[in-house]
Amino acid sequence: MTKPKIEPGDEVSGPILGIETSCDETAAAVLDANGLVLAEALLSQVGDHAPYGGVVPEIAARAHLAHLPSLVSGVMRQAGVAYAELAGVAATAGPGLIGGLIVGTGLAKGIALAHNLPYVAVNHLEAHALTARLPGLSAEPVQFPYLLLLVSGGHCQCVLVQAVARYRSLGGTLDDAVGEAFDKVGKLLGLPWPGGPALERLAASGNPERYPFPRPLLGRPGCNFSFSGLKTAVAQEVARHPPGSLSARAAADMAASFQRAVAEVLADRVAHAIEMAEGVRLVVAAGGVAANAAIRHELFAALHVRGLKLFAPPPRLCTDNALMVAWAGHERLRLGLSSALDFEPRPRWPLTSL
Ligand code: KG4
Ligand code: ZN
Repeated sequence: MTKPKIEPGDEVSGPILGIETSCDETAAAVLDANGLVLAEALLSQVGDHAPYGGVVPEIAARAHLAHLPSLVSGVMRQAGVAYAELAGVAATAGPGLIGGLIVGTGLAKGIALAHNLPYVAVNHLEAHALTARLPGLSAEPVQFPYLLLLVSGGHCQCVLVQAVARYRSLGGTLDDAVGEAFDKVGKLLGLPWPGGPALERLAASGNPERYPFPRPLLGRPGCNFSFSGLKTAVAQEVARHPPGSLSARAAADMAASFQRAVAEVLADRVAHAIEMAEGVRLVVAAGGVAANAAIRHELFAALHVRGLKLFAPPPRLCTDNALMVAWAGHERLRLGLSSALDFEPRPRWPLTSL
């Protein structure tokens, strides 16, 4: 049996099945070529990992294995699409936790092989990068080139997105990823894991000006990031209170002050990055931290005064999901960029290597 060969420019009209298993979300979606969502399902493993205060790779892999097959058959049934009618199968093949990547890509390859479909090994970061181009998300379609601010639990970088598979890194974090900083500060403040969403809720009732936390690298040339000093400053402030004596007011003020510091730093770094990306007028924010309303607001304001636009997908498409994987599959298949079935999943896989 030979796989149908797709040439660049060929019409890819059928829906694509997308699978995401790179971290702690088991997700599957069926998306048609016009961006119409035919079915979508997402199972968060937060409850499985919360007792450990972070993702336990072995637990994640086992949970993906337990739930992915039924999730996939469920979305296919809901979409009313037979496997043979798919234009292709796309699965996150990296970067991420290897156990989950093996589960997701293994199932995707099996389906592709059994039904003679093209397989697309999707880079998770590229999926975040291209989500903004999903038809119907923004009033004006998001066109290349644009500057991507990718802010998630494992990544914090500014990337010039020139085209599908063409990325230029402008800067990245020197220590922690920004989502990691949210999670660690959340833990310091006694919030449940993951800290980001809980910290945003707590910060809503806090005073962002009470604690003058540092703004690492603010105003410095380039667009690298650093968050460990900021995290340490919060830890030192928390340590000034005897264990158990941190008031709800102080915790909320610390959350708000930390969030404000992060937002100001991100806005400053993006303003520098845009100067490095000559002629680019649009910034796209993506990744879990881009779901944060205070950060979106700060970024919007900083770009607006410079006459630049910000686009951030709706929060549920900023955090990990399978629609972004299916959409990346469409973007790639349209260019004839399918993958060989022996493509091995990669725990590390920088965008710039695409
Ligand atoms: O993109 P994502 O779902 O997974 C990765 O690829 O890492 O991002 C998860 C990260 C976590 O660190 C989480 O705490 C953070 O994004 N996050 C947030 C918010 N929602 C998720 N951080 C700040 N504010 C939020 N609302
Ligand atoms: Zn992600």
